[in-house]
Amino acid sequence: MYGIPAEYYDVAYSSKNYEREAHVIRRLIGERRPGAQALLNLACGTGAHDLHLSRYYEIDGLDLNADYLARARERNPRGQYHEADMRDFALDRMYDAILCLFSSIGYARTLDNVRKTLVCCRDHLVAGGLLLIEPWLTPEQWQPGQVHVLNAERDGIKVCRMGYSALQGAVSLNPCQYLVGTEHGVERYEETHEMGLFTVGEMHEAFAAADLAVEYDPAGLIGRGLYIGGKKD
Ligand SMILES: C[S@@+](CC[C@H](N)C(=O)[O-])C[C@H]1O[C@@H](n2cnc3c(N)ncnc32)[C@H](O)[C@@H]1O
Repeated sequence: MYGIPAEYYDVAYSSKNYEREAHVIRRLIGERRPGAQALLNLACGTGAHDLHLSRYYEIDGLDLNADYLARARERNPRGQYHEADMRDFALDRMYDAILCLFSSIGYARTLDNVRKTLVCCRDHLVAGGLLLIEPWLTPEQWQPGQVHVLNAERDGIKVCRMGYSALQGAVSLNPCQYLVGTEHGVERYEETHEMGLFTVGEMHEAFAAADLAVEYDPAGLIGRGLYIGGKKD
């Protein structure tokens, strides 16, 4: 799970175009759920999408990481942010649309947990509400035995991440080490990401089991695909 502080997470992903993604999400919501007002961002991280979406919607968020939630609250002070598990949450608000982006659904790890997450989402959607889930990779796409390097820099902070891809059953393992350089010196962090690899067919079955309609867009926001689910009227 995530061991890197929020500030460095944002540097590591500073080349990700959250503003453009928010624009695509807004277009999708506008087409399928015009008049939507209340959104929930599951596994919202540091609220980088919320920063842009909050110009148009009331957007709340949920994540396991308290440090990331603190950053999300700064970015979207009107939002309600909850330290909770997407696989089992109960909020006292219903939403027009729920988002789960940047492959966060993979952290559910198992298909049973994906189904539990989808049921929780269904129970927090108004009739006709929209569920946008950007998946992690499929079993065919994950290539074990690879080394990945990411280098990023912003505001004088340099982040270098090196990760290794491994496989355990239907779960991708991605142990990563970070070096973070600032004016104070160089620090080291470690994370291991364990994420479930699900086929498109398995995801369709999970939506059906949660009594949600679903369409799959293979391109999605960044080429990883997008499940566009809906709560039946
Ligand atoms: C790849 S990050 C994505 C964050 C954000 N959506 C973004 O686009 O930058 C994955 C996030 O999922 C959160 N997460 C992982 N497992 C979770 C769970 N079971 N419930 C809620 N959040 C979870 C992590 O804390 C992390 O913030």
